Amino acid sequence: MGKISSLIRAAGSKKRFNSAVLLAAGSGTRFGDERAKQFVEIAGESILLRSVRAFQESEEVHEIIVVTREPDVPGCRNLLAKAGMTKVTRVIAGGDTRQSSAKKGFDAINPEADFVAIHDAARCLVTPEMIEAVFEAAYVAGAAAAGTMNSDTIKRTNSANLVTETLERENTWLVQTPQIFMADMYRAASYMAEKEKASATDDCALCERLGFPVRLVDCGPLNIKITYRRDVQLAEAILAVRDREAGK
Ligand code: CTP
Ligand code: MG
Repeated sequence: MGKISSLIRAAGSKKRFNSAVLLAAGSGTRFGDERAKQFVEIAGESILLRSVRAFQESEEVHEIIVVTREPDVPGCRNLLAKAGMTKVTRVIAGGDTRQSSAKKGFDAINPEADFVAIHDAARCLVTPEMIEAVFEAAYVAGAAAAGTMNSDTIKRTNSANLVTETLERENTWLVQTPQIFMADMYRAASYMAEKEKASATDDCALCERLGFPVRLVDCGPLNIKITYRRDVQLAEAILAVRDREAGK
């Protein structure tokens, strides 16, 4: 790992240019609305715009690539420009799977970028503070992801829901996004995954399978992903608490 740590140090020692890829090309099947869920509003602002705004407001981010479904590309470009999202450099069409959308987004970043953040637009309660904490960890480790330490007992079952295993709870996490990588590391990992036809449910796993270290950053349990319709009420309640705490 000596070589990797010196590469990480080299990437960390100059003025960095960081890109963010926001994934919003899903069809929201579990959400079940006519509109793609990324355009549904949470307390008056769309899921997509909330996510983009958090990256726009983070000082560690210099460009934002938004990946959306092909028919939504022009509308999305318009909406983000109107909302003053000046760091959005490209809005592009995604692929059939999250992994292929992430690959397309990554291929569209500035080739000189030092670090890349990959984020599910559906996780729209992310804050600039969370984004910055994960960037700081990625500067040290090379790769880092938001998550929350798990406090429940985890069991594995078979397909009939019968328990087959109880996992050690200690040091187990629920992993979220953003996931942030040294761009060269992610480039190598996604190239190898494609070459070896490996699929992974998150971007970190692409790096883990090559043995790269990935650090998790505790962002708490409120960085939720909007998956089902009930998550809208939950997100609005979380935002109301945040506003109260901020004295708004
Ligand atoms: N995503 C994407 N391209 C895909 C699939 C998903 O960019 N082909 C994005 C989604 O827009 C979302 C994130 O990846 O921001 C996480 O996916 P998920 O929460 O599963 O959203 P959907 O795939 O849209 O929902 P569902 O699985 O219920 O259809
Ligand atoms: Mg999905």
